[in-house]
Amino acid sequence: MPGQDDRAMPGQYDRAMPGHDDRIMPGHDDNRVSRAVVFPSPKNALGSQACEQDPTDRGQLLMNNDIPRQLEQRLGRLYARQRLGIERDHEAQIFGQGVNFFHPENWYSAHVVIRNVLKLIGLYGRGCRNAERIVVTHNEVRSKQLPPSFDGFTILHISDLHVDMNEGAMRCLIEQVGGLHYDLCVMTGDYRGKTFGSFQAALNGMAVVRAHLKDPVYGVLGNHDTIQMIPGLEAMGIRMLLNECVVIARGDQRIYLAGIDDAHYFRVDNIEKAGSQVQDGEFSILLSHTPEIYRQAAYANFNLLLSGHTHGGQICLPGSIPITLDSVLPRHMGAGRWQYRNMIGYTSVGVGSSIVPVRFNCPPEITLHHLRHG
Ligand SMILES: [Fe+2]
Repeated sequence: MPGQDDRAMPGQYDRAMPGHDDRIMPGHDDNRVSRAVVFPSPKNALGSQACEQDPTDRGQLLMNNDIPRQLEQRLGRLYARQRLGIERDHEAQIFGQGVNFFHPENWYSAHVVIRNVLKLIGLYGRGCRNAERIVVTHNEVRSKQLPPSFDGFTILHISDLHVDMNEGAMRCLIEQVGGLHYDLCVMTGDYRGKTFGSFQAALNGMAVVRAHLKDPVYGVLGNHDTIQMIPGLEAMGIRMLLNECVVIARGDQRIYLAGIDDAHYFRVDNIEKAGSQVQDGEFSILLSHTPEIYRQAAYANFNLLLSGHTHGGQICLPGSIPITLDSVLPRHMGAGRWQYRNMIGYTSVGVGSSIVPVRFNCPPEITLHHLRHG
């Protein structure tokens, strides 16, 4: 990187990763879950039953293999062992570790408390229905640094699916994306509902969602995800960016798409590495689950930061005022479009919900970013 071989054309995954081609490129469409797959019923769409019933589920096949060895091949021995070790030491810790001190997403008694309070005051059902009504938002990104051939290039941005605890929202997502036109899809993390334990149901759900998305799809991990999900996600055709960068080419012009590993909880992000191959003055996009690294991204000269994590508060007061953003971040960066120095940022409020699958005054979203030259 960069180089001709490293380029990722829309509809094609890059070949920069040693050993990457062998797992994804050859005939990967043949192995993907059929596009006809839908969430058939609440009972078997996302849970372990679906895994047992669908022998074509590639996540399950990979689950049976030696994931640490695969990660060492994919990431290098040092990174793989370091990442797995940090996860092992700090998984689902409520206090300490990470950017902020308190991690409500790791406090599992909170589920029961919030759910019961909402049921008691009669708002739980409404909150669940709100969480399943996804809106499509549009964001125009204008830049003189964008090559003219990328004028009109459209990126579909999906964040915070928490796919195994938001089945209704995922059904709505699949309906929505079917009618959208985009050149590239990015996913900014949090595929799993919980922050610990099994990830198979999340992979099963992701396989169903992925089957309804057009190539190419890129992603980064969130604080709810384990690095062990990487082989499964990549096997289904989601090219994960772990402090890495790819080139997106149109004719003889190009932009850069970089992504970092989780910066919020595991703190395994490396923006310097991800951005090191971006040529000075060229248009570059950074994917990060959390927008909390906005300063580092802006001073690393990224033009656009796409992120999620905050859920926009998820449970907000009237006027979309969040009670908490679970992050160390200026409030205006908690949802939607913002700017810091020369960098445009966008914080998706997410398509799923976490802790409890409810939303108030903060509808879930998927976003189409329209790039414009000038
Ligand atoms: Fe999330």
